[in-house]
Amino acid sequence: MLTLAAQLEEIITQAMERSLGLQGGEALLTVTKDEKHGDYQCNAAMGLAKKLQQNPRQIAQKLQEAVLTLERERLEKGEGALIADCQIAGPGFINLTLTPAALRRGVELIASQQHLDRPQKVIVDYSCPNIAKQMHVGHLRSTIIGDAICRLLGYLGHEVQRDNHVGDWGTQFGLLCAWIMDRGSGSVADSDLSDLEALYRQSQALAQEDERFRERARARVVALHQGDPATLAVWRQIVDKSLDHIYQVYAQLGVLLTREDVVGESFYNPLLPQVVADLEERFPQGNRPMEVVENQGAMCIFMYDPQGEPLFKTPEGGPLPFIIRKSDGAYLYATTDLACLRRRTQDLRAQWVIYTTDARQSLHFRMLFTSAAMAGWTEGVKLEHVPFGSVLGEDNKPLKTRSGENVHLADLLAEAIKLARQNVQVEGRDFSAEEIEAIAQAVGIGAIKYADLSQNRLSDYVFSFEKMLAMEGNTAPYLLYAYARIRSILRKAGQEEFTGVELPLDDPAERRLVLQLARFNETLLQVVDGWRLNLLCDYLYRLSGLFMKFYENCTVLNAQPEQVRRARLALCAQTARVLKLGLGLLGIKTVERM
Ligand code: ARG
Repeated sequence: MLTLAAQLEEIITQAMERSLGLQGGEALLTVTKDEKHGDYQCNAAMGLAKKLQQNPRQIAQKLQEAVLTLERERLEKGEGALIADCQIAGPGFINLTLTPAALRRGVELIASQQHLDRPQKVIVDYSCPNIAKQMHVGHLRSTIIGDAICRLLGYLGHEVQRDNHVGDWGTQFGLLCAWIMDRGSGSVADSDLSDLEALYRQSQALAQEDERFRERARARVVALHQGDPATLAVWRQIVDKSLDHIYQVYAQLGVLLTREDVVGESFYNPLLPQVVADLEERFPQGNRPMEVVENQGAMCIFMYDPQGEPLFKTPEGGPLPFIIRKSDGAYLYATTDLACLRRRTQDLRAQWVIYTTDARQSLHFRMLFTSAAMAGWTEGVKLEHVPFGSVLGEDNKPLKTRSGENVHLADLLAEAIKLARQNVQVEGRDFSAEEIEAIAQAVGIGAIKYADLSQNRLSDYVFSFEKMLAMEGNTAPYLLYAYARIRSILRKAGQEEFTGVELPLDDPAERRLVLQLARFNETLLQVVDGWRLNLLCDYLYRLSGLFMKFYENCTVLNAQPEQVRRARLALCAQTARVLKLGLGLLGIKTVERM
């Protein structure tokens, strides 16, 4: 992806080569904290000074000279001015100020099609609720984060395959099938899902007190896993019903997942014996760095470092097994994930696989990735676990309802939309009922998504309708309002296409806004590097703030002469476009009026 920062980095690297004879030096470029010091700063001189045993300021001077020479050469070659100023400050910081032409080009780069060096096939494993239960807030983060990841990857030109690895094969189905089949109806067609959930609770309670029912439930799991037609038929109905419910929530949430993206745990069931057999055969006891051995009847993978020390240890310090078959013959979450990862890399030829689950599964994924790598299934494949923290209630404990149950996602979304609708109506404006509905949806759902994405991903966060629906601060309503406000300016101007109009840079507020726009692409690259989605939120929040300042300082609709008016309107249009684009990448819909 083309960015101004990358161009600057390249020039600095060249300058290092020329003035210091250094190959492939790193520019260590950052955005300056104080705009008095220019737009970007290069922090490389201090490190180089140590390495080359020279004075950092002298190094900075050599680099400065070379940078200015390179800039002159660019101009001679007709490549367009990039650096307007290059100054040395402090112990050896090199401060760089961009030219107006460069700033404007930076904005044009946003729409440039040359986004990628190498499109990759990426599988994104996200949402993945355990079905037969209602979706709850714990699945919210995976769904929202994973969806934003898919949108970003798609925007960057990658080939994205969404994969909803739903839990459709666990022991809960034994209970449910046993309960339903005991009652002889053999059909769940008449019960809606809340019934199904009640059934699950009842069957769980019964299992607690009735040893014989427990037995029947266990037998049902075995029957299911062995493909008994009657049990499978009941199971299929439960799964379909649950998926109907889950996909209603997805529709409400406005995420990309479709029914075709479901490849549940059950899909891998037929593959599991072979996966275990293969591993067992190829990695016998004593093999290093990985061995597959039976331990108290269970089939376990043990992994070792080059010194022969176990890579994963129990709290007591013993080797920690990655268990792939229990002593009763049952397969586990780990087995399914191994089969699944093998399919994704070997059959589907993914080059990059991303898993979005809560941080408590981090160890599972480290063991999965390491064992799959040792098995030779992941050569050249990038594997990423993208963990996240928990959603907490106002009491700082995992979010629950008053009665202590998991909060249902459907209820939560409905509540957000209801509150957003109240906020809109209070304004008492001339909105049609339809418009109010669209605004309430966009604001309510947008608020939930944005509150999640704007956090540091790894932190737990407190779920607060009040905070996420606030019109001020780093919230979706604030950003959506900024967008709607710009759209209303453009409607008043009666124009929104400004092709060929140069963005204005005379007023400092204009320059700040253009510079922020020009940083869009590099922000995306930072976001993708480690999936720091909050950086995109921060970017958009800052962009909106800079727009508000610009609009306070600079007359737009009544600006004179016409040329200035057009330039400022063009800046409004460009800001709106980037806001919509950025929010869209986060999965947040904008509205034209608010
Ligand atoms: N169903 C699992 C859960 O709710 C998440 C699955 C994540 N994906 C995977 N391939 N393990 O915890």
